[in-house]
Amino acid sequence: MSYRAIVVGTDGSPTASVAVEVAQKLAKRLKGKLVLVGALDAYGVSRQPLQTALYEAAEAARAKKVDATAELIEGTPGEAILAAAIKHDADLIVVGNRGMGQATRFRLGSVPDWIAHDAPCDLLIVDTTGRAGPREPAPPYTRILAGTDGSGTATEAVRKAYTLASMYAGTVTLVHVGDPLVGAIKLEEVASTRPDDVEVQKRTVEGDPAQRICELAEAEGVQLVVVGNKGMSGVRRFLGSVPNKVAHEVPSDVLIVKTVDRSAEDLVAGHGGLVNVDGRQLAVYRDEDGQTYELSPRCTHMGCTVDWNDTAKTWDCPCHGSRFAFDGSVVRGPAADPLERVGGTAAAPGVAAQGTEAVAGGAPSLSAAASLGREVGSAAKKPAKKERYAIVGASLAGATAAATLREEGFDGEVILIGAEPAFPYERPPLSKSFLRGESTMQEAMVRPQAFYADNGIETRLGTTVVGVDPAGKTLAVAGGDPVSFDKLLIATGARNRRFPIPGIDLEGVLDLRTLGDAAGIRAEMLPGRRVVMAGMGFIGSEVAASLRQRGLEVHVVAGGKAPLDRILGEDVGRVIEGIHRDHGVEMTFDDQVAGFEGNGRVRGVKTASGLSLSCDFVVLGLGVEPVASFLEGSGIDVDDGVVVDERCRASVAGVFAAGDVANHYHPIFERRIRIEHWNNARAQGRVAGLNMLGRDTPYEEIHWFWSDQYEHTIQYAGHHREWDDLVIRGNLESRTFAAFYMLGGRVQAVVSVDRPADVQDAMGVIRAGGLADPAKLRDETVPLASLG
Ligand SMILES: Cc1cc2nc3c(=O)[nH]c(=O)nc-3n(C[C@H](O)[C@H](O)[C@H](O)COP(=O)(O)OP(=O)(O)OC[C@H]3O[C@@H](n4cnc5c(N)ncnc54)[C@H](O)[C@@H]3O)c2cc1C
Ligand code: FES
Repeated sequence: MSYRAIVVGTDGSPTASVAVEVAQKLAKRLKGKLVLVGALDAYGVSRQPLQTALYEAAEAARAKKVDATAELIEGTPGEAILAAAIKHDADLIVVGNRGMGQATRFRLGSVPDWIAHDAPCDLLIVDTTGRAGPREPAPPYTRILAGTDGSGTATEAVRKAYTLASMYAGTVTLVHVGDPLVGAIKLEEVASTRPDDVEVQKRTVEGDPAQRICELAEAEGVQLVVVGNKGMSGVRRFLGSVPNKVAHEVPSDVLIVKTVDRSAEDLVAGHGGLVNVDGRQLAVYRDEDGQTYELSPRCTHMGCTVDWNDTAKTWDCPCHGSRFAFDGSVVRGPAADPLERVGGTAAAPGVAAQGTEAVAGGAPSLSAAASLGREVGSAAKKPAKKERYAIVGASLAGATAAATLREEGFDGEVILIGAEPAFPYERPPLSKSFLRGESTMQEAMVRPQAFYADNGIETRLGTTVVGVDPAGKTLAVAGGDPVSFDKLLIATGARNRRFPIPGIDLEGVLDLRTLGDAAGIRAEMLPGRRVVMAGMGFIGSEVAASLRQRGLEVHVVAGGKAPLDRILGEDVGRVIEGIHRDHGVEMTFDDQVAGFEGNGRVRGVKTASGLSLSCDFVVLGLGVEPVASFLEGSGIDVDDGVVVDERCRASVAGVFAAGDVANHYHPIFERRIRIEHWNNARAQGRVAGLNMLGRDTPYEEIHWFWSDQYEHTIQYAGHHREWDDLVIRGNLESRTFAAFYMLGGRVQAVVSVDRPADVQDAMGVIRAGGLADPAKLRDETVPLASLG
């Protein structure tokens, strides 16, 4: 869970200061920004004392190393808090429960009521009753109750309860109100998604949901009740929704998770929102003519839920900064595909003339596109004999190229050969959500399994190519018949480096590249176990974070002075080190693993400097190398991967390469580069497919990647090897910055912590040649986009 911006309102009163303290604790724990808001309303709150109270509260927060700001805003307290939440794109509002007592129960008059119905984000209502004195305000929340009806939206709220419980080593009581049999099944399902370190109790009760939840909360002495906001807005709010009643009656803090915004009918023209349509959460926009666009809210990058940005009038993804227009089309990457159109009354672009057939999917299916007879390059020329294009490597680059061939109308044979038994899947979740048990691999397939057969792409999985004969146009396959081809794409990616370290073959010495590797590590991840990690590159850092998040003890041994210092330099490396130290990772730098000890199974690690570390298992993160040895003797040039030009063409005609294996010439950087990132594999896979069709398309993407560690997202764009100036926009100490790697006055690359938009904007600067005045890069008042 990441609450990156937390807004809390205060009038300086002792009860309000309880809510401030809770907000401050959460901001500190989550490394979020804290915005303290005071309202100057018409009833003449006097400015001076309020200003002083705000100033002192902000100072106190900063003294505790919280990134805090204070603002006085004109309006009622509710208006001021909502305005600040929108301005700062807050993901949590914290308010005290003053005015929410029994007497005002269904009057929408109190400040928290006001906010509860219109909050653009989650809302934590702090029970300040009797807390103004010396009593220590929560959190930590060690006893949490979460109400669920088993629906997808309620499950989202439960997930937040789990995350908080995991953070504070607490327990969660799951409550289902309704038919006990149905409840037992639903609770079983919901409980099965709990993190390993969270203890769950299940209760099924019958009767009035809000009343039962409140009774149980009181009986079990919980400190926090978590509910979804279903019914908090729209017409049902006047009838008294479950969260509304719970917020009024429960004797504890209440977290109302914004799972559903409102019903589609409530949307005002020109606005969007997450709404519930037939029990399904959708991103819906209503235009000025009243037409609606119903979209899947799953960001097409990695599946986070987008949210409506009412200022920019866009759908924004909180994870890595993708932005989509009201109709779902991509405004800004990393996402490359539009949000899926699932319905609505507005006609889908470009299909009105053909009726409504394609509206549901947003775009015609690939086979439909081909059968519509689109003008499709070489396919339109109808070759006399159907050609066969072979792709070796069934992962992101290979699968994207195969899909591109079909999308562009190629009607010959496409054969996708992969050594792994699985259909092509995305690797990023392997070190993140999948490793932590928070997502399944079904959610991370490059394309749904049926896509390949539906689009005439032959897949040969679990099949390893062991040689290539470009003259004879055949592939040698381990244990199988040769495969002929007319054109060939090599997309064999990279594999983990293995060094001849004594004991490396002991059981329990693991590394991570494939789904099988991730499943193997997951099986070892019992809370409290000790892990030694060798190396701390991006994947090593992500694994360390995921292991800590699951409650394991982690000791990293790595060369260099800080994580990633070889690539990012010591200053930025130290920031990443600080993040990991704060999360309890032990790190030894300037050292390396010299041997693994154990009898059959690893029990300890010896380092070159003489350290002895005992452990239950080891994860190696020692970097990767391109998979190209099977090309030996083929005549295809290999030099740190397959050497290709800017059109993905290898040294032999008809042979192409893309993804981690391709050492490609980059026209903007004017040098050869091999990149091991998701975006490169995807974008270059597409360009390789186009060039196989003779489209003469240069690959000039600005390389970009992200790395998620704890609640932080680190992003990098461009390419640098050395730099003569490191320009910082923001602040390294606060861990919110963009750092520009300059050489000869030009920006070569940018790295950011928790500023995804800066990286996307800086890509324009790099694309334009990188010339930029360091003073302007530093100056936060100068929009980066204006420098490109
Ligand atoms: C754990 C992990 C986390 C990552 N996280 C991020 C991230 O957060 N952000 C980011 O930008 N990038 C990330 N990456 C990198 C990204 O996943 C890779 O850049 C991307 O997978 C490269 O895709 P590819 O298709 O070029 O190669 P690969 O994904 O390496 O796939 C190559 C495929 O070819 C197959 N193959 C190899 N040789 C043969 C052969 N001879 N015959 C048949 N098949 C063969 C392999 O088995 C493999 O399936 C991560 C990678 C890993 C491992
Ligand atoms: S998941 Fe949306 S930008 Fe990454």
